Amino acid sequence: MAKNKTAFVCNECGQDFPRWQGQCSACKEWNTITEVRLGSVKAARNSQFSGYAGEGASEVQTLNEIDLNELPRIPSSFTEFDRVLGGGIVPGSAILIGGHPGAGKSTLLLQTLCQLAESMPALYVTGEESLQQVAMRANRLGLPTDKLRMLSETSVERICDIAVKEKPKLIVVDSIQVMHMADVTSSPGSVSQVRESASYLTRFAKQQGIAVIMVGHVTKDGSLAGPKVLEHCIDCSVMFEGDSDSRYRTLRSHKNRFGAINELGVFAMTERGLKEVANPSAIFLSRGEGEASGSLVMVVWEGTRPLLVELQVLVDNSSMSHPRRVAVGMDANRLAMLLAVMHRHGGLQMSDQDVFVNVVGGVKVTETSADLTLLMAMVSSFRSNVLPNDLVVFGEVGLSGEIRPVPNGQERLVEAAKHGFKRAIVPKANAPKRPPEGMEVIGVNKLSEALASL
Ligand code: TYD
Ligand code: MG
Repeated sequence: MAKNKTAFVCNECGQDFPRWQGQCSACKEWNTITEVRLGSVKAARNSQFSGYAGEGASEVQTLNEIDLNELPRIPSSFTEFDRVLGGGIVPGSAILIGGHPGAGKSTLLLQTLCQLAESMPALYVTGEESLQQVAMRANRLGLPTDKLRMLSETSVERICDIAVKEKPKLIVVDSIQVMHMADVTSSPGSVSQVRESASYLTRFAKQQGIAVIMVGHVTKDGSLAGPKVLEHCIDCSVMFEGDSDSRYRTLRSHKNRFGAINELGVFAMTERGLKEVANPSAIFLSRGEGEASGSLVMVVWEGTRPLLVELQVLVDNSSMSHPRRVAVGMDANRLAMLLAVMHRHGGLQMSDQDVFVNVVGGVKVTETSADLTLLMAMVSSFRSNVLPNDLVVFGEVGLSGEIRPVPNGQERLVEAAKHGFKRAIVPKANAPKRPPEGMEVIGVNKLSEALASL
């Protein structure tokens, strides 16, 4: 009998180790390394699909001999989804959709597949919900149900064997955490099962030219293997995020072999399923009537397009010896750094003040272009100084108080002008010679200039 191989794998980053250790030396997380029992080759041979693998024995080719006839991408029927994927689903690719339970992954994929099945064969494999539950949801959402093939199955080998007979162009596996392979001894949902199942499905996708979309749940406590361990083998990893109490969901790619990463797609969860939001700036900007201090609009760059987002800051006298600094939707370290810059180069002391920062609409801002916006909103709140409603600000702030340019300045300004903003404070290098129609653009070089221009 073939001896089962074991490996030690970090749940967080997927790094392999020859033996167990307390801390992962790659990602420095503690207690994340678990033993993974790798399947023996024998069982894989029993599967029909592996027979195909044997037939198509690989050959060495010169780079220019390789067939460049790219297969057309499969449009997912959601333009937002397509953009996140870099222009549609690539045939034969393996895609992972991660997200918290209840984010709406199953809904998104069911809607996509029902529409797609009208024009090409597609297979929806559900391991979590019963066929009846899925059918009821499809009916309730008024989706076309006459073409989509359904399968309730959790064995990866059987799914692949059925798919070889069914010949779909696209398979959805919902979810990868309940899938198991006969050969891997640990329970479904464990790192080894998830990793082996996903890599088996990925190989299957490549060899058969069938696109496979896998659903992966992320949990905070890490009891299920997070999609992190999978990112190595799949082609494309997208995250479906959003609080269940908020209507809006964002889809973002973290890895994409066929397109740009950090593309953002915005959806709204309604009682009739997911609807795409074509103009996300408009929803994140829906500001209440009346101006308030500490609120300011910035333009962030999301993948290939600008997005207008409102930033709110509240600065208040602190009653604690360690004043609180809370940042929602932004990096707290960046906030601490900007407070220091503000003290040294802006002459404002906030060490006895609580500072709360919130990015409206549950958006996460990782860009440095928010620095200047944050500082100016902070000053506005500190001085109870209301900023004009038609002002937009962006720019990176350096440690010596200099304002640095950010990429795509022109496009950001155009987007702001399109939404009716009349004034902009931006880094000098981003200020165009000819500002967009009807907009006054102030270019600043130093933090002091920016504060003076208020
Ligand atoms: P679901 O797709 O089951 O989430 P996941 O597969 O990511 O775990 O979505 C579940 C949530 O979506 C649930 O909390 C209810 C909500 N929802 C709606 O608001 N409207 C709808 O039409 C549907 C189908 C779900
Ligand atoms: Mg689900």
